[in-house]
Formats: sequence, C-alpha cells, structure tokens
Amino acid sequence: MSVIRPQLPDDPLHYDATAVFATGGFTRQDVAGLAGRLDTARAETLTDIDRWRSGGLAASEVCDPAFIDLPDRLLADFKTERPGSELGAILKTARRLREAVDRIVVLGIGGSYMGTRAVFEACCHPYHNELPRGERGGRPRLSFEGFNMDNDAAQGLLDLLASRPGHAADDLLDRWALLIVSKSGGTLETAVATRLFLAALLEQVGGDVTRFAERVVPITGRSGKLADLARAIGCPEVFDIPDGVGGRFSVFTAVGLLPCAIVGIDVVRMLEGAAAMNRRFREAPVAENPVLQYVGVSHLAEERTGATIRVLSAWSSRLEAVGLWYDQLLSESLGKAERGATPLTAVTTRDLHSRGQQHQEGRRDKLITNLLVEEPRRDRLALPPLGPFAHDEDKLDSFVGTTWPTMLAAAAAGTNAAYAAARRPTADILLPRIDEHVIGQLLQMLMLATVVEGRLVGTNPYGQPGVEAYKREMMARLEPS
Ligand code: PA5
Repeated sequence: MSVIRPQLPDDPLHYDATAVFATGGFTRQDVAGLAGRLDTARAETLTDIDRWRSGGLAASEVCDPAFIDLPDRLLADFKTERPGSELGAILKTARRLREAVDRIVVLGIGGSYMGTRAVFEACCHPYHNELPRGERGGRPRLSFEGFNMDNDAAQGLLDLLASRPGHAADDLLDRWALLIVSKSGGTLETAVATRLFLAALLEQVGGDVTRFAERVVPITGRSGKLADLARAIGCPEVFDIPDGVGGRFSVFTAVGLLPCAIVGIDVVRMLEGAAAMNRRFREAPVAENPVLQYVGVSHLAEERTGATIRVLSAWSSRLEAVGLWYDQLLSESLGKAERGATPLTAVTTRDLHSRGQQHQEGRRDKLITNLLVEEPRRDRLALPPLGPFAHDEDKLDSFVGTTWPTMLAAAAAGTNAAYAAARRPTADILLPRIDEHVIGQLLQMLMLATVVEGRLVGTNPYGQPGVEAYKREMMARLEPS
C-alpha cells in the first residue's frame, strides 16, 4: 500500500494576509509599522533561551524557552552520533516496541497528548488503526486515554485491549504497551488512568513483572510521582521531559517523538522542518518572516478591528487535531489577566454547513486563518460517471473527470471570495502538502508565534496558573474529610 511517497522536497510553508488588508481594517503598512516592536519581541523570545540557560532568571519567573532550539539540538546530537543522543534512544525504543506489540496506548492530557495526536492524524494513514498489521507496515495502532474521566470511553478501550478468545497465548496482535506521559507526574486524570491500565496490562502478561516492565514507558519530569512509580515498576526505559520545556511546547521531546516514531512517522524529517522554521524565524526580516507576519496581522486584527476570535480553518480533516492542539497552545499561553484572543478550530468544507453562516454574517469579531494544502499525498480522486443504470439523475455529469482537489480549491477560493465581499478578514497559511517536514514547520511556527505575541503584548506566554483553580476545587471534593 503506497501511503507515503519517499523523497519529498523541503518546500517551505507560506503565510499570506493579502485578503485581510483588502477588508479595510488595517494595511500592510500598518504591519510594517509594527516592525520595531516585532523585532524586539523576537529578540526577547530568543534572549530568553540564554537567560534560562545561564540561570539568569528570577526564582519566581516562569520561563520555558528550551523548546525553541530543541529541534536543532536533538538533530545535531543525532547526526554527529554523539553518545547519549536523546533522539537515538527514542528511535531505539521505538524500534523495540514496534516489533513487540500491536497497539500503543498513550496516557496523557493537554500538552502531554495533543501534539502527538495532531502529528498522528496529519501524517499517518487516516484509517491507520483499522488497517491490518501488514498494511500498517508492521507498525502498532495508537490509542489515547487519560485525557478525561469518561467511564464508558475507558471501558471501550479496555474491551479492545482484552486478549481475543481463540488467539494463541501472547499472540503479537494482542500485545500492547503503555506510554505514560505527565511532566508533573501528578495530574489526576492521567494518574487514575495509569492505575487502571497498569492493572489491565499486568493481567495481559499473566503477572510476569519483567514483561510488564518492558511494556511500560514513562515520559516525565526528572522527579515526581510518575518517576517514583517508574522506579518501583523497574521500567528499563524512562524518558525525560526536559526542564525549560512546558507541556504544550513539548511535542518535539519524547512526548511526541516516541509515539510518533513507533507508528512509523519520520520524526527526523519533522525535526528538520521545525529547524527550518527556526532559521526563518531568526534570520528573515519582519516583512518576509512567517512567524512575525502572522503575529503582526493577528495582533492588529484584534486591536484595530476587535477580532478577538481566531478561527483556524483547516482545509483538510487530517489537520483538525493540529487545530485542537493550537486551541490549547493559544488559550493556555495568552488567556491571562482578562486578555487573549479565543481560538476556534474549524474543518472546511465540513463546518461551512455549521459555523459558515456565523462566519459570513455573524458578529464582526473573527479573523479566519485558512490552513490550505496545495498538493494531496495520494492519487487524485476524479468524479466517475454514475453508471449504466442511470441518466444523470444527480445532475453531476458535467463534472465527470473533475478531481476532488479541484473541487476543494474551488470551495476555498469561493468561500474566501464570499468572505471578502462581506469584508470578513481571511489570511492563509499555505502548506505545500501534509508531510512530516511541513508539519514540523507548522507546529514550530505556531509555538514561536504564540511566545512572540506574548512578549509583544506583555503577557507571559509560559505557565498556566489558571488551571490550578479547578484542580483545587476537585480535590477538595474527592479527598476524605
Ligand atoms: O501545557 C501544559 O503544561 C499543560 O497543558 C499540561 O501539558 C497538562 O496540564 C498536563 O500536565 P502534566 O504533563 O504535568 O500531566
């Protein structure tokens, strides 16, 4: 099955806000007028790395900039075969688990699973989990839990994990492994799911504690409850979420790289894409810098036109989880001190039949950024004739031979024209295709943009103090009085 074509070029993504300027709220010159402030915000974003590394932060300052040069550092260590290369270790464990089991269950919440899900849905076959193992290239299925406390959903996954009657004991197709992801090691949703799935796994390996330990891979901070649990279980492989990398910025640590590598995603290409975006971010002048242009336009749309809602409109179902990952990134980073735009993910054309009405005629509080994909990865589907039994009853004969990408392009151009006619601002992020290199660029662009915008408006993009309130209230109700 030709799911992935080899040898794709390193095409860059592009950001284009021409249609925003045409709606009249502000101009390209206005964005150019922000250049000085954007340059300062970029410098601050990059200087944070040195301040953090040299220990120059005040004890009370939350600052996690180590995600920025992480792709470059991981690649440099790996390509020079430096002993102890983190990426080398990740790929080794990925190979071991790929051969040992047929399903990986990732337990994690927020930044501890959303990036993995985004990359998995974008880069793997859309029906990866439904394919037989041979058609998956011998790569395991990937399931997620520990991101909610949904009784029936967890029971449903446990049903899938139970060994099937009639299978030989320890059949490869019944074997599964757990990746437990929590930076703090103490998040309740993930911790309670951990107990549940550890019990199921122990049962599956017939109580064999050595095999059990080999099938549990914790990914966590250096100390904490999960690190303690890993030691108690005797897990041979434990991966670190490095200091200086916050949860929602952790997709290029073992958090995202290990599960993605297990299911066959080329994580080296993804890191190369992220590193390419870093180069553009550092070197390109403001007018040609996709990160700084995106920040400038989004910021002015909010300030000058009241566009406090940022719709990320994904023109591919495979990018919906990227949108959900970005929802978290923007909300937790900039939704502070009664400020911060509200992110909203839409999948088009699907949501033109739900949100489309509001985007066309509702409140003028939205900036729509399209995620457009220029080339599909698979052969183009073309509209076939209806068949010998029919005579154009559906009135589509005039489109016979028209391909789905052509129809989607018409939908995108038509939707944007309709928005433009109503003076609804739309910008485009143009992805040459959906592959690891492009996804690496895109995720890094959005993470950098979030931090730069925080620095531009004086909101600390790191940390998420507001999330603690619900935890306190929940624990007060659970703990025995
Ligand atoms: O961005 C963040 O830091 C959060 O969303 C965390 O990822 C989330 O709360 C999960 O935390 P932890 O990984 O400590 O279990």
